[in-house]
Amino acid sequence: MKTIFEKSNGVNGVCIGNSDDIDNLKISISEEFIRKDNIGLPQLSEVEVMRHYKELSDKNFCVETGMYPLGSCTMKYNPKVNEMLAGLEGFVNLHPLQSDEDSQGALELMYNLQESLKVLTGMNSVSLQPAAGAHGEFSGMLIIKKYFEKRGENRKKVIVPDSAHGTNPASASMAGFEIVQVKSNEQGQVDIEDLKKLLKEQGSEIAAIMMTNPNTVGLFEEKVLEISKLMHDNGSLLYYDGANLNAIMGYTNPAIMGFDVCHINLHKTFSTPHGGGGPGAGPIGVVDKLKDFIPTPVIEKKNDKYIRNYNMPDSIGKVRSFYGNFGVFVRAYAYILMMGKSLKHATEDAVLNANYLKEKLKSVYDLAFDEKCMHEFVICGEKQKEEGSSTLHIAKRLMDYKIHPPTVYFPLIVHEAIMVEPTETESKERLDNFIDVMLKIADEIKQNPEMVNAAPHTAPIKKVDETLAARKPDLKYTK
Ligand SMILES: Cc1ncc(COP(=O)(O)O)c(C=O)c1O
Repeated sequence: MKTIFEKSNGVNGVCIGNSDDIDNLKISISEEFIRKDNIGLPQLSEVEVMRHYKELSDKNFCVETGMYPLGSCTMKYNPKVNEMLAGLEGFVNLHPLQSDEDSQGALELMYNLQESLKVLTGMNSVSLQPAAGAHGEFSGMLIIKKYFEKRGENRKKVIVPDSAHGTNPASASMAGFEIVQVKSNEQGQVDIEDLKKLLKEQGSEIAAIMMTNPNTVGLFEEKVLEISKLMHDNGSLLYYDGANLNAIMGYTNPAIMGFDVCHINLHKTFSTPHGGGGPGAGPIGVVDKLKDFIPTPVIEKKNDKYIRNYNMPDSIGKVRSFYGNFGVFVRAYAYILMMGKSLKHATEDAVLNANYLKEKLKSVYDLAFDEKCMHEFVICGEKQKEEGSSTLHIAKRLMDYKIHPPTVYFPLIVHEAIMVEPTETESKERLDNFIDVMLKIADEIKQNPEMVNAAPHTAPIKKVDETLAARKPDLKYTK
């Protein structure tokens, strides 16, 4: 495809005033600032400009294009009405420095969202400040750190399962903790015996454990209550990575499981489209004993007025400018109101869809763990590797069938991992199509692995050397 500069044909796309006006303007602009040379912008009619950018956007893949089963990311379809609401003039044009008095509607929305998230997580206090999941984790870790500092306890270590999402150890480490890894057992869950051993050896130094439940292999940690008892008996806290809330929302919550701090990825479970770096939000919730430490401002209701409370002396302080990504709050609140008790049905469908796919694929692809899964599951491409292909090639080949590749090579504890999260928003027809395509690719590998390994054949950009592209990106355009 040509660049817009190459397409330029000298046609004026827009006409600004007439030459008399421009001559008059010159009078007030000093001669030294008047442009001498051509500005060099492409020149095309308006419709050609539109067609150019439409053609470019058609090269993108999004959930409106097709299925996006990216495990751990919950790339579900989000109702467009929530976009409309987030774009309402009163929300978009409200300046964050406007007084509380003049922002009552927006503050009420934030307050109500905090209250809804308290119900959904079972936590006692919520701060909407953090900008994404990892940011919520980091804020949660600072809260845990401050809690122990206040108590005069020198606990410098955080336990993280070997299956954890990479942001967990990274956030704990950024907050100044040392990471201690706990092993997974044969069933893909936290190995209780290993945890007991760690607590016995290093108990007095352990501040917390970070877990997600369901965990990153899509399995519910059945011993979570035993884990929370072990941790609390040791004087430690439990952090819940809420990225997988889509699997449990309305059925259980982090508080019931014994967690003390959690974050929620509003951009996964609660209706903000993400990927491509769009804004997210990672509000955090805490149990009562940690409420004084959460980031400010917290939105409070006093005498029927909503206020931003910055006056929390023990707070870890602000972790983001103003109060967070407001547009994301609007979408989340609208989604929660729209769904009401049906949030539970979304959970059911997410889990049902994942189990349906898993059962249909397991005759051809090896399962990492042959258990009932939650909202996602992990298969491995070991068998296909022996036949001359690999997980990476299977993922790329899916693009030829207009399906976004699943998450691959994560979690690290599974060889040749392919992590599939269909979400609740896919129809049975789409799920069946995914199954057909995956089975077809397995067959193609048997017949002609070279063809599969050369995929994608139809994408605008064919196979790239991913290591080279990441390490030495060449972003310069040459004809
Ligand atoms: C399990 C898990 N935890 C944490 C995160 C981090 O969330 P974010 O990308 O919003 O920082 C993710 C993101 O994919 C995740 O899947």
